[in-house]
Amino acid sequence: MKDLFDKIYKDKGPLGKWAAQAEGYFVFPKLEGPISNRMKFQGKDVITWSVNDYLGLANNAEVRKVDADAAAQYGSAYPMGARMMSGHTSLHEQLQDELAAFVQKEAAYLLNFGYQGMVSTVDALVAKDDIIVYDVDAHACIIDGVRLHMGKRFTYKHNDIESIEKNLQRATKLAEQTGGGILLISEGVFGMRGEQGRLKEIVALKEKYNFRLFVDDAHGFGTLGATGAGAGEEQGVQDGIDVYFATFAKSMASTGAFIAADQEIIDYLKYNLRSQMFAKSLQMQLVVGALKRLDMLRTMPELREKLWENVNALQNGLKDRGFDIGTTQSCVTPVYLKGSIPEAMALVKDLRENHGIFCSIVVYPVIPKGLILLRLIPTASHTLQDVEETLDAFSAIRERLENGTYKRLSAGVQASMEA
Ligand SMILES: Cc1ncc(COP(=O)(O)O)c(C=O)c1O
Repeated sequence: MKDLFDKIYKDKGPLGKWAAQAEGYFVFPKLEGPISNRMKFQGKDVITWSVNDYLGLANNAEVRKVDADAAAQYGSAYPMGARMMSGHTSLHEQLQDELAAFVQKEAAYLLNFGYQGMVSTVDALVAKDDIIVYDVDAHACIIDGVRLHMGKRFTYKHNDIESIEKNLQRATKLAEQTGGGILLISEGVFGMRGEQGRLKEIVALKEKYNFRLFVDDAHGFGTLGATGAGAGEEQGVQDGIDVYFATFAKSMASTGAFIAADQEIIDYLKYNLRSQMFAKSLQMQLVVGALKRLDMLRTMPELREKLWENVNALQNGLKDRGFDIGTTQSCVTPVYLKGSIPEAMALVKDLRENHGIFCSIVVYPVIPKGLILLRLIPTASHTLQDVEETLDAFSAIRERLENGTYKRLSAGVQASMEA
């Protein structure tokens, strides 16, 4: 009989197999120093374009003080237990009420982590007879929620209205046989390429099809819309979103998340979300910290204005210099270049070592073979000087990519990969 671990000894998985070449540098890098526009990587100063601290709150002095005072008052244990049992407080309720009002919904419920919360919200919303229709590029937490579903699910082509409609037709036919309903899941902003989910068109389809819409707005919350309420507000269809989700891990620069919907739906979910019923409540320090951050989102539109000043300077600057930034409609700024994985590695090394620019790199199989995606996340803490330095660095690396410098530098790596 096989040892369970045999497969692990043989195969480290699609990402793990790169560990020897990538760990500590391309994956699991250690960014050091206070979270800000400039941090340290391997002892060198780098402009940081890889942290989702959109509004620059992570190291804001007032936020840090509220966090520290809350930690002093409550410690990290309080409250002990799951919400339903012994982990419920008035401040949890207050935060829920304020979040619901901020995203223009009747009620909200806190989640101790976005990922688990999302998984079990999908799980709680559907029964065996129901059908899920979702975007093929959905975030892993949506996919994992769908995995728990005992009934049928259909994926539609990424953000493709024709494909959405075709799948709604299939789902409608099937639902008529099973006697179930339809849940459509989209993201508000797709975090890799930055496109907004086509919420306006999806909501318009409610005229023709009977479905409920669940939106993961992790990247839209706090960054999009007149008040920061996210992609639904930006597209004028917040009311058409039946269940809204956002995490505290991006604009709020913290940990935790929430869902918001009509009161009756939240009343149901709070009794049926397994990841919250059987796990510890969001700790008080995070609740108090979230109240402070939410207050800043509400009362300091200048944070969002500064963020967008930087986003526009970076995205327009890249476009003016002829870079392909795809179809982003959000702060997420992808830069697409052509090259092999070894070339991409040499290029990123050059960016970090010689230009002091730290951004994330995405290659095949996440994107098609031969493409390199450099992903930049502008924040309110960046300066226009950061943007200028970055644009110059990108022009320099493009020249070296095109004149074959990275190909020469990576010839050894290329040979070892082919061996
Ligand atoms: C689109 C999206 N959904 C959900 C999550 C998970 O949220 P959390 O980090 O709170 O678990 C993330 C990542 O933070 C995300 O990018």
